[in-house]
Amino acid sequence: MAIRLNSAYLDGFVSEADFEAMAPAMREVCAKLANGTGAGNDYIGWRDLPVDYDKEEFARIKAAARRIRETSDVLVVIGIGGSYLGARAVIEMLGSQFFNEFSPLKVYFAGNNISGDYLNHILKLCEGKRLSVNVVSKSGTTTEPALAFRVFKKLLEDRYGKEEAAKRIYATTDRARGTLKSLADAAGYETFVIPDDVGGRYSVLTAVGLLPIAAAGFDIDKLMLGAQTARSQFSNDLPDNPVNRYAMARNILYNQGKRVETLSCFEPAFTLFAEWWKELYGESEGKDKKGLMPTSVIFSTDLHSMGQYIQDGSRVLFETFVAFQNPASDFTVAEEPGDFDGLNYLGGRTMSFVNKNAQSGTILAHVEGGVPCMVVEADRIDEQNIGELIYFFERSCAVSGYLLGINPFNQPGVESYKRNMFALLGKPGFEKEREQLIQKIK
Ligand code: PA5
Repeated sequence: MAIRLNSAYLDGFVSEADFEAMAPAMREVCAKLANGTGAGNDYIGWRDLPVDYDKEEFARIKAAARRIRETSDVLVVIGIGGSYLGARAVIEMLGSQFFNEFSPLKVYFAGNNISGDYLNHILKLCEGKRLSVNVVSKSGTTTEPALAFRVFKKLLEDRYGKEEAAKRIYATTDRARGTLKSLADAAGYETFVIPDDVGGRYSVLTAVGLLPIAAAGFDIDKLMLGAQTARSQFSNDLPDNPVNRYAMARNILYNQGKRVETLSCFEPAFTLFAEWWKELYGESEGKDKKGLMPTSVIFSTDLHSMGQYIQDGSRVLFETFVAFQNPASDFTVAEEPGDFDGLNYLGGRTMSFVNKNAQSGTILAHVEGGVPCMVVEADRIDEQNIGELIYFFERSCAVSGYLLGINPFNQPGVESYKRNMFALLGKPGFEKEREQLIQKIK
């Protein structure tokens, strides 16, 4: 069954009349998406990706994943932003935050920060281990992954020699352009393509996500199948389509003055998926001085920290829960003779029973505290449901962004820090900016 949206907890905050008032705009937006006439329409390749993907490359991804598993103990995936978060999100959702403790192939992510400490820790983890590297960068010039790749390329070449190192480096990048593509072609790395019409944060269902996910041992056919299901069920302009309803609710709440959306989940394995979601929505909608600030919490952990703010702080937010109906595994609480901790009332109950009731109690309390809540429901944490969730959130983000009146597919804002950083680091060509910036540093 596809993803569902329970919007009943919006009662008292958002009315059916509010949805009806926004429906014509939503229909226009869906037409723009269908016809490819909206802003940023050269980046809507994600729309048909679940069915319209390169089947030959898909088979190569699976073959490369098998080879990596046979020849390596560690796969280092180098990338940042959209070239990083999706793969890690899916691997941690399916394999838990303890994935590397359980898995024969460890998957470490590098190049997603500029910390020397972080790099040294991964290098230490690679000592004495058979190593492969997947470097992922659409532009091929992003500083963070480029710096990390320099290090791992040298490590592989020193350890295995250039020829064998080239067999252990997999490059996911632009089809034809860029530094990484040129290097990969010259050195003979196997390459995978980030399609021209798919932007970074929409790229998890391309080789960007699929190669690391498959190498980690997960079923990418099922992941794509889930995305196909969501695509066929959600690509329409019906007002009770969960995608459209979620996108409309976000905009109605934004128009009412809400400025923060908190994505909440009672499964710790969801932590990185929420990071992926934050990038998707933050980078897509946060522009022209508009947009909801996407934030996330993992409950019940964060009920003991951020829970206070959500219940009782500034009423600037609403909450979207992601709930999985069936746990992948469960645990039954035992009876304890003497009931020393007073928990025997839970004896014989499962942790999922406790977790579900904690979720219901939390939603009721937050609604009572003035927080509009919605619940995105999936059946369970598995490849198919995650594929559906990915497509659900991608499409809602596009619909929501167009309703907000921005281009959901560009990211002009991320250039500002880069220019300053290049200037301060002394990159050739930035000499003038460097002088001005140095004056401003306090
Ligand atoms: O969504 C985006 O476009 C960004 O988050 C990019 O994915 C990120 O900046 C990395 O870019 P690249 O793949 O060119 O290294």
